[in-house]
This record gives sequence, structure tokens and C-alpha cells, in this order.
Amino acid sequence: DLMNNIRNFSIIAHIDHGKSTLADRMIQLCQQVSVRDFKDQLLDNMDIERERGITIKSQTICLPYIAKDGKEYILNLVDTPGHVDFSYEVSRALSSCEGALLLVDAAQGVEAQTLANLYLAMENDLEIIPVINKIDLPSAEPERVAAQIEEDLGLEKELIQYCSAKTGIGVEGIFEAIVEHIPAPSGDPEAPLQALIFDANYDPFRGTIISIKIVNGTVKAGDIIRFMSNNSEYRVEEVGLFRFKREAVKNLSAGSVGYILAGVKRVSDTRPGDTITLIKNPCPEPLKGFKEVQQVVFSSIYPIATDEYEDLATALEKLQLNDAALTFQKDTSVALGFGFRCGFLGLLHLEVIQERLEREFDISLILTVPSVKYNFYLKNGTLLEVDNPAYFPDPMSIDRVEEPYIKATILIPEKYMGSLMTLCMERRGENTNYHYPMPGRIEFTCELPLAEVIYDFYDKLKSITQGYGSFDYELIDYRKSNLVKLDILVNGEVVDALSQLAHRDNARARGLRACERLKEEIPRQMFKIAIQAAIGGTIVARTNISALRKDVTAKCYGGDISRKRKLLEKQKAGKKRMKTVGNVEIPQKAFLAVLKSD
Ligand code: GTP
Repeated sequence: DLMNNIRNFSIIAHIDHGKSTLADRMIQLCQQVSVRDFKDQLLDNMDIERERGITIKSQTICLPYIAKDGKEYILNLVDTPGHVDFSYEVSRALSSCEGALLLVDAAQGVEAQTLANLYLAMENDLEIIPVINKIDLPSAEPERVAAQIEEDLGLEKELIQYCSAKTGIGVEGIFEAIVEHIPAPSGDPEAPLQALIFDANYDPFRGTIISIKIVNGTVKAGDIIRFMSNNSEYRVEEVGLFRFKREAVKNLSAGSVGYILAGVKRVSDTRPGDTITLIKNPCPEPLKGFKEVQQVVFSSIYPIATDEYEDLATALEKLQLNDAALTFQKDTSVALGFGFRCGFLGLLHLEVIQERLEREFDISLILTVPSVKYNFYLKNGTLLEVDNPAYFPDPMSIDRVEEPYIKATILIPEKYMGSLMTLCMERRGENTNYHYPMPGRIEFTCELPLAEVIYDFYDKLKSITQGYGSFDYELIDYRKSNLVKLDILVNGEVVDALSQLAHRDNARARGLRACERLKEEIPRQMFKIAIQAAIGGTIVARTNISALRKDVTAKCYGGDISRKRKLLEKQKAGKKRMKTVGNVEIPQKAFLAVLKSD
């Protein structure tokens, strides 16, 4: 029986414990890739991911393996993204598996994300195989780590695999453990089709490649499928497996992890977590757990050079082809001209898009201060959703404003509890609670305004816990807020792109910080520049930049002419990254500086 020879699994780990290295080693051992073709970090193939060492877009690979029992198995390794912004995608990827390798660094031991990921795997009823990696390190303490895994995580010591993903020692044993301990998928190939979408990628020649796990039924080329979340229908062009390259097969049936090509134009026409069925003999119910991805962070993006607007539009369209979570629509600013209002899953998602636009598409950008979506209840009874300070309604017309709240679950070593409490209080946290899931670790929950969290909360958490804090959140409800619009004025003119929505308690401090940042970043010009912050027309903070001609050539003592020219050219290039507001030149750096909090 074919299904008995399938194993679907993921690798879950704390950052840097060796997930990508192990995945690469496993691929290499299965000899799908000749040593010459073998490129480090095969699965993490986006540049930015590699540099930041985080997996964002998951990928799947199918490894053929001949076990010691002489049978050939198909091992589907489903890669998962590794950041809280993408936790829904992680959870979807895990739900396509029956098991997971829980990878722990032999020198570092169990860390925050080890636990957070373990919870996620347990919620999905996965069989878990603990793997202690990096046993080649002189500082490795495999016995200590094994004891942690047994006592603190409550996993069986007998199941633990010891390996070095770097040297390859012990990796063979992992394959055997997968075959032996991870259950084969169950499901009925004759039942109505239920296929779980857990990922989608864009191919310029073939359109959207939909990654699926067939839970029940069978699908083949020519079938007409239906996406159950929106009832859209497509004809299947091809089904296949993720070998090193995509490999078409006749059909995919229950238990398989593979792909469908069906002429779906954009990745955003698919929804991770959605169920695919056939229009003939459809399944009565979709699979559990589907939810729409929600954009929670909004920011406007403008090109520095106004003539790059069309390029920006094209670039965003291209990025969206592969990233269904990105939304955008036209926006305009008096200060910055034409741009786009974009929606993101979180701040990291925003940063990734920003970097890709600048790096892959070579467009210099200005972003406005990120915002969440607020509900304005007006006196005339209407509800206005606002995520952009430009649409802040007339204060006289507002009855009340509500802002989104989240429940944050934070995992930290005990000794950081004090600093974490302080941080959460500063961020208007309520209803804090905690318990000890294992000795020395605290699981802390707290209700916070989402707006306080998108504002560098994660970075702060990392820094107060020296990297050991992990964080997860879910939106819970909307609560009353005291919201104001904070404006920044340069020489008396409001720079609309610098306006932000802020809680009244924080607004003045933010205004002051913005003024100081601008003072640092705006070069002196030939006249005095006044920088002010205002709430509803009242100035709450101000600074000045005194007049000075910044003559860069003065340093050259009139000597070497070619050097002088070089400096002038440098100054000109610097100007290209400036925006003129009124009569003041504001560099891109200054806009970006206002984005940061501390
Ligand atoms: P993220 O993608 O950031 O989650 O990291 P990762 O878990 O994929 O870790 P990665 O595979 O990038 O490995 C992190 C570092 O550990 C790299 O410098 C690897 O070379 C190193 N490393 C991985 N496995 C081993 C091992 O078995 N032994 C030793 N000595 N180093 C290893």
C-alpha cells in the first residue's frame, strides 16, 4: 500500500540551532543533488532570508529513502517559516504533517522557541522526535540537554537522536527514526477530495504553484477543483511532487504532499488553510482551522524620486504575485507625491518588503510611521475604519475611538520577569498572568494594544531578555482608546507623511522624539529651520536647526580639482535621496529615523 510508505514531517527549532543545515544534509544524503550542484542552505533560498537567518517562505522537498527494512519510503520535508508574524503559516505547514523533528543545539539546550514550536506541534497532534544537534562542538553537553528534553519537555529519552548536521554523524539514524516513529498518513483515497492548501508560490511560466496535503480523496490533471473558502473553480493542469525539481505525476491521493497547477493567476487567489475539493462529488465540510490572513500593520510607501512611481507599482505587483499577505492601494501625500498604502502581517513583514523593494528593484523609498486600524464611531452613527492619519476625521464629529487589542503570550527565562513586567506596563498592558511550564521558565500572558506592539515591542523584548524571549499573539477585541493625530511641522508647514496616530498619553513624547531625530538628520541649510510637533493645532514640542552653508569643498583648500569634483558628485548623489518639503531638503534617513522609537 503506497500510503504506508509516506512520512510527512517538519523540522522545528529555536533560531540558529541548525534547521537549514540539517535539511541540507538530509537532502544531500538522499542524493537528490549531486555534490557539485549542492549549494549551502538550499531551502532558505531568498537572499534576505539568508542574511537575516530566518525562513520566511516555506518550501517543501520530497526525499526518497531506502530504509534498513529494504523498503523505499517517500519522506516529505515541509519547511516552516520562523517568525511570529508568520505563525499562522507555521501552523498551516505543521498541520500538513504527521510528525516533527524537534531540533535542539547540544551546547545551548532548550530555548524559548524550542518550547513555543513544541506547543504548536502538539496542538497539531504531531509525533515528535527530539534531535540533539551539533554534538561535534567541543562545548556540546548532550547528556545535560537530553535530561532537559526528558524532564522539562516530557519527551521520551529513548527517542532522542544525536547528530551533527555539519559533519553528517547521526543523520542516517534520524531517517530510520522518522520511518519507525512518525505514523504514515491516514485518509481514504476513494473518499471525496479534501486537500489542504498550506503554501503557494509564483512561477512566471506556470502561474501559482499550490502546495497541498491530500487528506482524503484523489486529484489528477483534468479535474475541476473548487476552493471552499470562496467557491472559485479551476481546471487542474498538472499535479506532482516536490523532488529537487517539480515532478509531474499521474495523480495525488490521500496522504501525499505535493502541488497542483491550475492556471491560478496570483498567489493571492489562494488562501493558506483553505480546502480544495472536486466539483464532482465534493466533500461536505472543509478541513478545520481556516482563517483569512489579516493585515494588521499599515504604512504608506513613496519613491524618493517621483519618476519611480511606475516602477514601484510594478515592483509591488510582482511581490504580491508571490506574497498573498501583502496588500496595497494608491495613496497621495502633499509632501511626497504619489505612493501606496500597504498592509502587512507585522513589522518584520514590512521590513522584508521594504528591503526587497530597495534591493531587488533598486527603488529608494520613504515609509510613513506604521499604524494599526482604528474604529471611529462618529456622532452621526457611522463607523469609520482608519489606518491612515490622512483620514483622521474632524475631532468634533467623533463620538469614540476603539483600537485593536491582542493577547500576547511571552516565554522567558525567570530572571527577566521584572524587566518584562516593566515593558508591558509601559506599553499599556492589562490583565497580566503567568505560570511555569518548566523550571526556570515563565510563560507570561498580557493584553496589550496592538499599536504598542508594532512599535518595536519585539526588538525590546529580545534586548531585555538577551535574545531568549519568544513571543506570540492573537487579536482579541477592540477597546476604547484616547487617540490623537500628531503632526510634524517643518518651517510652519505640516509634513503630512510624518503625521501619525498616537495615544494621547504617548503623543507628546513621540512628538518630542520626532523633533530631535529630525534635528539630527536634516543637514543645516542656508536658513534657520523650525521643527515642531502639534496635536490638534497646539504645538507640543519644538526644536531649531540653525543656518549654515554646508560647503563640502571647503575642506580641499582649493587644491586638487578632481578631488573637489568627486566631493561635489557625492553631495549630488546624497541629494537624490532627499525630498524637498516647502523649501527644506529632508533626507530619506530623517523620515526613517522618525519610524524608530528608541
Ligand atoms: P534559522 O534559519 O535562523 O532558524 O537558523 P537554522 O536553525 O536554520 O540554523 P542554521 O542551519 O543556519 O545553522 C546555524 C549555525 O549553526 C550555522 O553557522 C551552522 O553552520 C551551524 N551549525 C549547524 N549545524 C551544526 C553542527 O552540527 N555542528 C556545528 N558545529 N555547527 C552547526
